[in-house]
Amino acid sequence: MTKRYTVTAALPYSNGRLHVGHIAGCYLPADIYVRYLRSRGEEVAFICGSDDYGVPVALTAREQGTSPQEVVEKYRDIQKKDFDGLGINFDIYSGTTADIHTQISQEMFLNIRENDYLSKKTTQQLYDPEAEMFLPDRYVEGTCPYCGSEEARGDQCEACGKAVDTLDLKDPRSVVTESSPVVRDTVHWFFQLPAFRDRLKEWIQSHPEWRDMVRNFTLGVLDEGLPERPITRDLGWGIPVPLEDDPDAEGKVLYVWFDAPIGYVSFTAQWCQQQGGDWQDYEQWWKDPDTEIVHFIGEDNVVFHAIMWPSMLMADGTFELPSNIVSNCFLNIQFPGEEETKMSTSRGTAVWIGDYLEDYDPDPLRYYLTMIAPERQRTAFKFEDLVQRNNQELVAALGNFFYRTVTFTHKYLGGEVPPRGSLNDQDREQLRRMERLPDEVGEHLDKCEFKAGLQTVMEAARETNRYFDYREPWVKRKEDMDECGTIMNVALNTMKTLAVVCEPFLPFTARKAARMLGMEEEFRWDDAATPLPERQTLGEPEIPFEKLET
Ligand code: 2FM
Ligand code: ZN
Repeated sequence: MTKRYTVTAALPYSNGRLHVGHIAGCYLPADIYVRYLRSRGEEVAFICGSDDYGVPVALTAREQGTSPQEVVEKYRDIQKKDFDGLGINFDIYSGTTADIHTQISQEMFLNIRENDYLSKKTTQQLYDPEAEMFLPDRYVEGTCPYCGSEEARGDQCEACGKAVDTLDLKDPRSVVTESSPVVRDTVHWFFQLPAFRDRLKEWIQSHPEWRDMVRNFTLGVLDEGLPERPITRDLGWGIPVPLEDDPDAEGKVLYVWFDAPIGYVSFTAQWCQQQGGDWQDYEQWWKDPDTEIVHFIGEDNVVFHAIMWPSMLMADGTFELPSNIVSNCFLNIQFPGEEETKMSTSRGTAVWIGDYLEDYDPDPLRYYLTMIAPERQRTAFKFEDLVQRNNQELVAALGNFFYRTVTFTHKYLGGEVPPRGSLNDQDREQLRRMERLPDEVGEHLDKCEFKAGLQTVMEAARETNRYFDYREPWVKRKEDMDECGTIMNVALNTMKTLAVVCEPFLPFTARKAARMLGMEEEFRWDDAATPLPERQTLGEPEIPFEKLET
């Protein structure tokens, strides 16, 4: 029976280009997972879009001397193009400035308030007298109260991953004027996060299958105790607090980390509408206990997705909780002859997707990023390593096998799948290996072990080359054409299985392989080892991977 899955990838702030660290962090794993589920015949909604509000976008607009809306539109288009170029095809790529997002976010705020999980309080905030504005979140930087990093931002410290309150920062400085802020009173709405501590703990403990990084980090945060969290801000750029009758709500907007995850829901609603249904159809993707909700996120998003967001869902009371939260660690970068360093947009230490795609094909990058995926710990991107692995692994193991199998069949066997004939032990073993392969790879993908899944595919490709070299169809061609046909039948069927199981990882290559085999470009996991029809006409040979130079 098919199952329904809602798969989301963290909404990128629409204030910059995407680099390989973003892609390795959550978008590529999410895409691999979705492709796999679809190949298995599951029903999937793959949801993403841009995170348009909040301080990061407002700051970029200030730096670039333009409006936040212009920043949002410019970068959302660039990001969408990058995703498309890499074959990461969301069902919808919307943005949080969409009207339906405002509506659903405001409704959720009101539901949570109605359920008594919000309280209005006079509180203190940092204020920049020179700029005449409050300094919420990233408008202020300073020293982390937890780990001492001097570059902690007002919402979160990147060094230790902890959520930070601006007032707790030591030596705070305004990002706008560089001056030291003063403290002023202001009214805000606080979310009763402590009310969810026990339920959160129970929920996380009921998911031993989650990655250790997510579970341990979250359980650690819960053990320290949860504070009430203000979910409104004094900012000009955001969703207005929907309390028209309350003068205190004037000029206040929802905190960007309150509205952003609601984007997953509102974009689903928008997608349902785009497909000719009602926007309320989103409920089957979010409120049905039989739907699996899986969030793919980056390391710095864990606290918001595993604590804040599920608490919001519980506080609303009408939603199901996520089934899994899959997070990678950060991907560092290493330039030749230099030390490994953090990827940073501001310092320009990154490889940009747009730049990469101008010169190279997407699959070598998808391959490399999966093979070095920071699934358990930080790893480093090295361009020369990508080139080497492309040449020594993709070209040598997979590309060569696909290409030589198809060219040989064209040259000596009339360009069609030869009859299977009588199999020897090696042929039978090779076919059995291919019958087992989809389950072996699938077992890893079910557990979101993407690197191990791809390693399993590549090991099978290497064994296949050994089989092919051992059976020497180029020698048999001169001695026994029937036996040569049998070997090539096994080789072509192997190629089909490899194409199906590599499709989630290397979709462009899989499509080339399918064209060469004369198959439809629809990949069905369960049919991966179903034999190709004998006498099926092959397509023209295409080179799967080019050799690369640095
Ligand atoms: O860290 C970020 O880039 C955030 N914009 C992620 C938001 S994810 C979700 F909650 F929307
Ligand atoms: Zn810190």
